[in-house]
Amino acid sequence: MELQGADFELLVRYLHKTRGLDLNQYKPNYLRRRIGVRMRARGCPDYHSYLHLLRLQPEEFNHLIDDLTINVTEFFRDEDVFEELRRAVIPSLIRDRKDMGILNLRMWSAGCATGEEPYSLAMLVREALTREGGQESWNVRILATDLDEGALAKARKGRYEDVKLLDGMSCEDHFVRAGDCYQVREELARMVKFLRHDVANQPPLRHFDLILCRNVLIYFEKERQRKILESFCEVLRKGGMLVLGKSEAILFGEGLPLEPHQRRLRIYRRV
Ligand SMILES: C[S@@+](CC[C@H](N)C(=O)[O-])C[C@H]1O[C@@H](n2cnc3c(N)ncnc32)[C@H](O)[C@@H]1O
Repeated sequence: MELQGADFELLVRYLHKTRGLDLNQYKPNYLRRRIGVRMRARGCPDYHSYLHLLRLQPEEFNHLIDDLTINVTEFFRDEDVFEELRRAVIPSLIRDRKDMGILNLRMWSAGCATGEEPYSLAMLVREALTREGGQESWNVRILATDLDEGALAKARKGRYEDVKLLDGMSCEDHFVRAGDCYQVREELARMVKFLRHDVANQPPLRHFDLILCRNVLIYFEKERQRKILESFCEVLRKGGMLVLGKSEAILFGEGLPLEPHQRRLRIYRRV
């Protein structure tokens, strides 16, 4: 089967147009394998028939996404995004709040899975505030939400077998060894609060400087994606930042009060 064949292109375009899923982010071999698994599971001999099936049974999209992304998370997933948060975004949010005389930061990791994402954010904020000095005077709250109670239970434990950090970071600053695992330090755990929340069906949490919603929107139909993005805009303060997953284009963003900070990294500013 030719990966770059016309039917494959049609399939890719269909997923992009209807769900905003940018499959070009994935390595061709990986894509071929994962889509192949779904095609075999559904008895589709080629891309054409799989596309037909997706059109008739949109719920198949969720199985495909499960196969492509579900529960895939790690510390500092997409390093270049977190490097940008570290270099520019977090320092500028801290400056903004200081200028307003409010030593308070509220952040939301929506669809946080097993917690690596909000803890990564917490590490960056801790580092930035340590550099600033006066860390004790700051009140930082990272709300981390997910639909999946099992994932949240693991996240609350804060115990991981594998930890990957950014250059120049020290594991001992943020974790203690617990047997074969790494336990998130108390200072970090205190910054993050885990809650069950359905981003597609519940009203959003409120008053944020930064929202991360990465590799979650791809699950939803475009109207739902649009509604979620609108709700994020409502609860982000002006100048606040929104970070989506690298495979998620804001396709349906016309008219939303967002401007790109770095389009390639899917980092946007609330205007
Ligand atoms: C692929 S993981 C992404 C984890 C993390 N954001 C990242 O990018 O590494 C997708 C997560 O979205 C969660 N999720 C799916 N539908 C959701 C919903 N309606 N509300 C909240 N979370 C949802 C899943 O449970 C899963 O943990």
